[in-house]
Amino acid sequence: MILLLLMMSEQTAEKQVVTPWVATSDSAFDYDKLVRDFGSTKIDQELLDRIEAVTHKPVHHFMRRGIFFSHRDMNSILSAYEKGTPFYLYTGRGPSAGMHMGHLIPFMFTKYLQDLFDVPLVVQLTDDEKFLWKKLTVEETRKLTIENARDIIACGFNPEKTFIFSDLDYMGTMYPNVLRIQKMVTDTTVRGIFGFTDSDCIGKHSFPAIQAAPSFPTTFPHMFGDRKKIRCLIPCAIDQDPYFRMTRDVAPRLGFHKPALIHSSFFPALQGAQSKMSSSDESSSIFLTDTPKQIAKKINKYAFSGGRDTVEEHRELGGNCDVDVSFQYLAFFLEDDARLAEIREEYSSGRMLTGELKKILIGVLQDLIKKHQEARAQVTDDVVRHFMTPRPMEHILFPKKETSSK
Ligand code: TRP
Repeated sequence: MILLLLMMSEQTAEKQVVTPWVATSDSAFDYDKLVRDFGSTKIDQELLDRIEAVTHKPVHHFMRRGIFFSHRDMNSILSAYEKGTPFYLYTGRGPSAGMHMGHLIPFMFTKYLQDLFDVPLVVQLTDDEKFLWKKLTVEETRKLTIENARDIIACGFNPEKTFIFSDLDYMGTMYPNVLRIQKMVTDTTVRGIFGFTDSDCIGKHSFPAIQAAPSFPTTFPHMFGDRKKIRCLIPCAIDQDPYFRMTRDVAPRLGFHKPALIHSSFFPALQGAQSKMSSSDESSSIFLTDTPKQIAKKINKYAFSGGRDTVEEHRELGGNCDVDVSFQYLAFFLEDDARLAEIREEYSSGRMLTGELKKILIGVLQDLIKKHQEARAQVTDDVVRHFMTPRPMEHILFPKKETSSK
């Protein structure tokens, strides 16, 4: 399978590699190709219309603007919601030092989904994954877990309906489902999906079962009891899809629904859309800890511009919004459609210069980061403990006891 994909990209002379650990491309990512290669479904107008019809609210600008662009089984989730059948959200993060703006995208979107559907959420912090893949001690990954949890909580999740867990701490409760999954998946399969080789440690080979387990409700007995037929929706970046292709394959054999997914594109690095931002490259991203000054400096110095070489040329030909990173960041963070359309028009006609566009973006980002930092400052140790404690939620989630779990 992997071989086949490589051959296909050879033929089209495109070099695009997307796995949970690598995302590189010679030019801008070809997301249609990813949808074809991965076998997911593009989000089309019909689905957006249905979401609006079912929820009676306009869809999030991330969906309107194609930032969340692909899905699996969203229609089953909407049908469940229409019938009043409960489902839950699952997302996660491999804890790292220094979260950047790109890391906020799935959490901002998940917060929107939690509010929209008023459903429970589980957040997996894969400290075990980071330990296996990075040069970190177990003790270090534990610390990063707590620090990242603070940033996640600062996104505003419902404290009554959100459970955040560290794999290191929660493994005991998850273990029965992890085991069940491990027994269903051969080494040949994980090698095929993830490209593991003879020289990868055995921890890596078995890790996918650990990321799969939270897709099944019985992994959370304090929330769902022993109900096996509760659907799960996973908002994530498209690079996480391989884990859930594997999960969807084993789900019916274990008596669970296949998890549904909604996929985002990658948040572009300041230098341009070819690569994902990296926490290890200071200049490639805006960090959640950056000061207003640092934000202004990074945008002015590094944000790849679709503007022209001279003012005269720019006035004449206009800027190119499709490659301009500042414009793309605005598409992520400026909610007002009319204002964004106006900026696009001004910039591509040449009336607005790159410096002016950057100034607007700097203001938007400074405001967003300031709000995030203020919210994070409110997240005390007790708040973190609350979110991370397995606690009964069944009575909140299922006020009227279901008569049958089937
Ligand atoms: N592997 C993910 C990462 O490295 C973390 C993760 C775990 C995750 N479970 C998830 C991400 C579910 C999205 C959805 O960031």
